[in-house]
Amino acid sequence: MATIAVIPGDGVGPEVIDEAVRVLDRISEIEGLAFDTVTYPFGADHYLKTGELMPNGIIQELRQMDAILLGAIGDPRVETGVLERAIIGGMRWGELDMYINLRPIKLYAEYLCPLKDKKPEHIDMVFVRENTEDLYIGIGGHFKKGTPDEVAIQQMIMTRKGVERAIRYAFELSRKRAKTNKLTLIDKANAIGTMELWTRTFEEVGSEYPDIERDHAYIDAACMWMVKNPEWFDVAVTGNMMGDIITDLGAAISGGLGIAASGNIHPGQVSMFEPIHGSAPKHAGKGLICPLAAISAVQMMLDYLGHDSAAVRLDQALTRALTGGEIRSLSTDSGIGTSGYTDIVLKHLATDDAVSA
Ligand code: IPM
Ligand code: MN
Repeated sequence: MATIAVIPGDGVGPEVIDEAVRVLDRISEIEGLAFDTVTYPFGADHYLKTGELMPNGIIQELRQMDAILLGAIGDPRVETGVLERAIIGGMRWGELDMYINLRPIKLYAEYLCPLKDKKPEHIDMVFVRENTEDLYIGIGGHFKKGTPDEVAIQQMIMTRKGVERAIRYAFELSRKRAKTNKLTLIDKANAIGTMELWTRTFEEVGSEYPDIERDHAYIDAACMWMVKNPEWFDVAVTGNMMGDIITDLGAAISGGLGIAASGNIHPGQVSMFEPIHGSAPKHAGKGLICPLAAISAVQMMLDYLGHDSAAVRLDQALTRALTGGEIRSLSTDSGIGTSGYTDIVLKHLATDDAVSA
């Protein structure tokens, strides 16, 4: 039996995770899969009560799991970044070394897109975001903090190993995707000179993949094209910081944070799946937030675990739920409510179409 670690976390995290687990239970029933879940309390409440962020030994425990499902982390009662760095960062760039942040950007239905004349066939791409390096990993500090002479330094780390494994993963993924076999490297090597490590590694690794078309865009231009010509993108690979920003833009053009999910992946090892959205404290506890991003994270998890037919079935159910007319908006004022969205997905999950994986 596969075991899933569930970390509901803060804010709306617990609400959306409840819905995600409902879907996981139902699809397991339909597909004859068996999952055990172990729930962990990490997040603001637990920290404020016990002073504990991630306990000693937890990484070893998580390593034994088949996957991790995370809700959201972050709470206004705790200094910004403390929980996020310890819990999300602790898993991503700690010993679990989840070096890929995989972020599909897929438009399920035209009404979800704020761009003029863009339809599902125009927005279907996957971002491979490097997930263990860059400006994120906390090398830096303050000098003369709080004085007029204050200095703040944050180091941007790029290693050949980190860059190469992200790029290699992206080339392999391009091969698997049938769309265009085009891989776009997004960087800022024109201004940040050392980023040519990305450009050079991309060319070197790319020579091993002659079947994949190599494309390149600077991050500023890439943001523009995401809005003007999203159909140009198929698979894109980029660094941690730029990947964070451009995938929120990607979420915005494909239905918003109510639908966007991501996988934090170390191929062959325990990986973590989560909605892209944050803890949205102002919406917490109201039962209004859309849980489809967390449900999409379950879809990615099933796919990662090799349950192809369950993953396809859930993707089809999401497509039908979003195109069947019952859902016209993913916003908190849609009138559907958190569990209402799940009810619609579950209804479509039960409609037994032939699933071809
Ligand atoms: C994300 C989030 C995180 C990030 C934060 C919460 C640290 O924005 O998963 O995209 O910046 O990676
Ligand atoms: Mn983000």
